[in-house]
Amino acid sequence: MISIIVAMDDNRLIGKKDSSNGMPWDNKEDLKHFKDTTIHQTILMGYTTYQAIGRPLPHRHTIVVSFEPFEDERVEVRTSLEEVIQEYKESGKDLFISGGASIYKQSLPFVDQLLISKIKGTHVGETYFPDFEDYGFVLKEVKPFETFDLEIYQRGAQ
Ligand SMILES: NC(=O)c1ccc[n+]([C@@H]2O[C@H](COP(=O)([O-])OP(=O)(O)OC[C@H]3O[C@@H](n4cnc5c(N)ncnc54)[C@H](OP(=O)(O)O)[C@@H]3O)[C@@H](O)[C@H]2O)c1
Repeated sequence: MISIIVAMDDNRLIGKKDSSNGMPWDNKEDLKHFKDTTIHQTILMGYTTYQAIGRPLPHRHTIVVSFEPFEDERVEVRTSLEEVIQEYKESGKDLFISGGASIYKQSLPFVDQLLISKIKGTHVGETYFPDFEDYGFVLKEVKPFETFDLEIYQRGAQ
């Protein structure tokens, strides 16, 4: 299954440039949820997000996409997002698309589910998750956490 995993606020804000890790908030509970969900799995992120995090996250296979190939033996570097998605779709293996905004936008037509941590309140930043209303996702489940609600959307499911 191909999943988008993202944390956003009520305005779909996801990123802030001048913060320590690129996020508009410091939310340990959501980082734990991200870790619990993606541990020992394959995650994919854009080069900008990889730079913002500054290192590969441990115990995960990390694919970083960039149009300009670069040397980093800690991760799998790929130059085509579409190619990676196609490979994982064909093999039936799980893939967690982990941002940022441009990667989310390009992936939306192809993913099976959205795992959205809806961080409470509004925050300051400049990068937003795209409007996904017209992509045919249906809200299947909401799991309440202390500082966010986990919203699970699946394509076309009732
Ligand atoms: N709240 C969350 O859950 C969350 C999660 C992740 C990220 N974020 C935030 O999102 C922001 C970054 O988003 P962003 O849109 O600026 O950058 P991004 O999506 O992380 O990365 C963009 C880069 O990815 C590469 N790329 C894009 N499309 C590609 C394709 N089709 N094939 C191959 N490579 C491709 C390009 O790298 P090159 O320029 O090297 O060619 C492009 O510059 C940061 O603030 C980050 O903290 C938030």
